[in-house]
Amino acid sequence: MGILNLAKMDHKLRPTLAKILPASTFIKLYSATRPWFIKRLAEEELDTVDGHFYPIEVMGLKFRNDLGNAAGLDKDGSLLGFQYQLGAGFAVVGTVLNRPHTGNLFSAFGRKHNPWVPLPGSDSALNSLGLPSKGIDPVLDNIKYFQDQYHPKDFPIGFSIMGHPLDEGEAKFQGVLDCVKKAAKVADFIEINESCPNVKHKQKDMGELNNRLKLILEVAREQSNLPILVKLGQIHDMAGTLDALADAKVNGLVALNTQTNYEQFKENLTSSDYALLEKYTSEFNGGLSGAAIRSFARDKMKEARAYINKHALDLSLVHVGGIASPEDIVESRSFAELREWYSCFLSALASQDPRQIYQVMTEKK
Ligand SMILES: Cc1cc2nc3c(=O)[nH]c(=O)nc-3n(C[C@H](O)[C@H](O)[C@H](O)COP(=O)(O)O)c2cc1C
Repeated sequence: MGILNLAKMDHKLRPTLAKILPASTFIKLYSATRPWFIKRLAEEELDTVDGHFYPIEVMGLKFRNDLGNAAGLDKDGSLLGFQYQLGAGFAVVGTVLNRPHTGNLFSAFGRKHNPWVPLPGSDSALNSLGLPSKGIDPVLDNIKYFQDQYHPKDFPIGFSIMGHPLDEGEAKFQGVLDCVKKAAKVADFIEINESCPNVKHKQKDMGELNNRLKLILEVAREQSNLPILVKLGQIHDMAGTLDALADAKVNGLVALNTQTNYEQFKENLTSSDYALLEKYTSEFNGGLSGAAIRSFARDKMKEARAYINKHALDLSLVHVGGIASPEDIVESRSFAELREWYSCFLSALASQDPRQIYQVMTEKK
């Protein structure tokens, strides 16, 4: 059976499995099968869909439509061919680190896995993968292979980059600069990931962020003039954050990442998912994604747009968090230039005709 048919079957079975299996077994099952699923997707051959459904130009780049995958889906660039064939407007690879990292591991079925779990009643998910990465070098090879194979048109490739979670201070920042230097030779844009909820970040100091971004831009500009974006998980101080980004002369903001304030979002979950929420977060913490964070992400980005317009800042917005429907896209276009999705993309893949997904999502005006 093809992987997409299997995904459809799994999607139908999930609510029942979540009911009959103990929460711990359900978590183990989905954590153990995630890498296998991604590998099978990467091997999937589809007839290529021409994704020119909503061509736009943003930050000097041409996009065949304004929806692409969010960071984390394609950690190492192995899904570029699959995304291109499906008709995505662009792709984000990573988060990529300067050297390999296992991420957070736990034992299930005799092997180690990175924890994640779908919340099947709520079109949402929890993950605490902890940034597993093969390191940047194999990613560069995968991108080269994809470009030689497909000669993509109007399909920019973004690199999500972060410091290695096992490094601190200067060494960590040097890791970011090393990745930026390498990525800038092949990427169309870069997302600096300042937002992973599953690794330790210091409380954001806007002055320090601003200085780091200026250095990153310097290094990137030695290679090329590609756009540099910053991805954030939380924006507590909207004015301070946007002023710092504009002052550093980055091209835009990507937001939001997964959320960890479970109490705030619990009312957006179906009660049948509460046992999974409790079990998962008590063992792994983790970030919540998907429909449960939709209105929160949308409202934050609306607020960002209002501030950017009021102060005439030169920043583009990439909206991410719970995007699931053509209506979400139409609304999002009123405040953000581009959109990324992850959790609800997987649901769409498992419940719709894959050849139609990007067309249905993006052609509505
Ligand atoms: C399993 C998983 C892994 C993720 N890994 C990353 C990552 O490596 N880097 C990153 O910036 N965001 C990562 N994210 C966050 C997503 O990019 C996105 O910001 C978040 O899931 C909200 O979007 P969604 O509701 O469409 O899933 C990950 C999300 C999930 C579910």
